[in-house]
Amino acid sequence: MTNISVGIIGSGSMAEHRHAPEYAAHHQVGEIVFYDRNQDRAERLANKFKGRSVHRIEDLFNDPCIHLISDCSSNETHMFNTIEALNKGKHVLCEKPMANTIEEAKAMVEASKKTGKRLFIAHNQRFVRAHQRAKDIVDSGSLGKVLSFKTTFSHRGPEHWGTTKSNATWFFKKERSYSGVIGDMGIHKMDLLRYILSDEMEEVSAFGGAIHKQDENHEPIEVYDHVTSILRTKRGVLGDASFSWTNYGKEENSMTLYLEKGAIHIGREECPLIVEEYSGDNVRYDLESQKNSGVIDHVIHCLTHNVSSIISGEEGLESLKVVAAMKESAESRSICTIQ
Ligand SMILES: NC(=O)c1ccc[n+]([C@@H]2O[C@H](COP(=O)([O-])OP(=O)(O)OC[C@H]3O[C@@H](n4cnc5c(N)ncnc54)[C@H](O)[C@@H]3O)[C@@H](O)[C@H]2O)c1
Repeated sequence: MTNISVGIIGSGSMAEHRHAPEYAAHHQVGEIVFYDRNQDRAERLANKFKGRSVHRIEDLFNDPCIHLISDCSSNETHMFNTIEALNKGKHVLCEKPMANTIEEAKAMVEASKKTGKRLFIAHNQRFVRAHQRAKDIVDSGSLGKVLSFKTTFSHRGPEHWGTTKSNATWFFKKERSYSGVIGDMGIHKMDLLRYILSDEMEEVSAFGGAIHKQDENHEPIEVYDHVTSILRTKRGVLGDASFSWTNYGKEENSMTLYLEKGAIHIGREECPLIVEEYSGDNVRYDLESQKNSGVIDHVIHCLTHNVSSIISGEEGLESLKVVAAMKESAESRSICTIQ
């Protein structure tokens, strides 16, 4: 497969700022076909990216020329869209969180196995250069074992990012975003930790709340806008992680790993990656800035070379299990085991 035509479901912010430009820039991608239940949005992106728009979702699913579907719709529709697309013989790149519940995510992975079509989840943090370099350093063993971590990801909220720039955004609705900031921000770092540590989370204890955001009726939102948690991995690494939509200052997107012989600082303002060797040296990695997320390049490479993916449906499912347990822990005020 050398020329891949793509259908995009949901023509909102992710489609406009990540998927469509990265497909349009890729030499092995053919036509891009846009669908949104709000037809104006699909038409606008079709014009902007010199693609085509369709009026019905079936026109994507039933088009034999389309090989790959990107699902950039809101979370509650990922399962339906993905399973339908896989059953119609398309490969799928689904945005994170891949689904709202573990059962939905398992059904998606099953559908991929049954149909033999590939399922990718857009866990873009795995492709950030500083993250990949940090993983190389951990894997090399030069700093010894990882002992603990701390990570945070926070900004002023999705009502400033998504297409609906108001407190009526679907991100604030339980039946649509389901786990609020946990599934929106937390899953990025939980997935990244699983990737860098090559380890699985085993236990989590979390506090969450709708501490500041209000919906369009001036009521506290139905999902958490802030969560703070403590985690233990299967190998006994301990760490703390907090995620927030209520950081009205500069976005924070960082992680520190403490190892036996040094610490790895990722995402500090002064440098994307600093390795602090306890023997005395600080190594700064001034990595080239990245022009794209790397997700689309990876997916197209996997499809055209028929190679395995680091962002498979199975990986997305394991990361979703962590955020599901984090949500359960915060809601039940108890320590939860990740199954
Ligand atoms: N990977 C990342 O870093 C990242 C960042 C932000 C959002 N996301 C994810 O991307 C997805 C989209 O987020 P967004 O910020 O673009 O939201 P958005 O609200 O800007 O866009 C979503 C679009 O999907 C459309 N839509 C919703 N349900 C639909 C359906 N059933 N059929 C057709 N169209 C439908 C809406 O009309 C809207 O235009 C979400 O799952 C979100 O969690 C990922």
